[in-house]
Amino acid sequence: MEKYAFARVVHIIAIVLWIGGVAMVTTVLLPAIRRMASKDDRVAIFDKIESRFALQAKITTVLTGASGFYMLYYIDAWSRYAELRYWWMHAMTIVWVIFTLVLFVFEPLFLHRLFEKHAGINPTRTFAIVFRLHLVLLALSLVAIAGAVAGSHGWLLF
Ligand code: HEM
Repeated sequence: MEKYAFARVVHIIAIVLWIGGVAMVTTVLLPAIRRMASKDDRVAIFDKIESRFALQAKITTVLTGASGFYMLYYIDAWSRYAELRYWWMHAMTIVWVIFTLVLFVFEPLFLHRLFEKHAGINPTRTFAIVFRLHLVLLALSLVAIAGAVAGSHGWLLF
C-alpha cells in the first residue's frame, strides 16, 4: 500500500511541475511576449525561454508515465481501458502519449526544424499557431486532471 501511495505522490509532484509549467507558458509567458516583443522577435524569444523548460518537461513526463503505469500494475487495473466510465484513464494516457511523442520523437526529428523554418517565413502566424497548440494541450491536460481526481475518488459519470 505504501508503494502505491508513493507512486501517487510521484505522479502528482511530476504533474504539478509539468502541467504547471505548461500553464505558466500558456497563460503568462506567451501573452507577455506578444505584448512586449516586436513581431519578428516573438518566436525567437519564446524558443529561448521554453527550451529551458524542455528538460524539466522530459523528466516529469517520464516520472508521470512510470508512476502511472506502476499504479495500474499494482492494482491490476488494465481492464479500465475497456470501460467508458474510466474515460479519464484514456484522457491521462492520451495527454501523456502526445507529450511523449512531441518531446522525445517529433521535436528532435523534425518539429524544431519546421518551427525555425516557419518562424523565418511568417513569424506572426507561427506565434499564433504555437499559442493555439499550447491552449489545446493545456485544456486537454486540465480535463484529464479533473476527470482523474473526480474518478479516483469515486465520482464516476457513467
Ligand atoms: C500513461 C500515462 C498515465 C497513466 C498510466 C496514469 C495512471 C494513473 C492511475 C492508475 C491513477 C490512480 C487511479 C486511482 O486511484 O483509481 C492515476 C491518478 C491520477 N493521474 Fe494519472 N496516469 C497517467 C498520466 C497522467 C497525466 C498525463 C495526468 C495529468 C494531466 C495525470 C493525472 C492524474 C491525477 C490528477 C490523478 C488523481 C490523483 C488523486 O486524486 O489522488 N495522469 N493515474
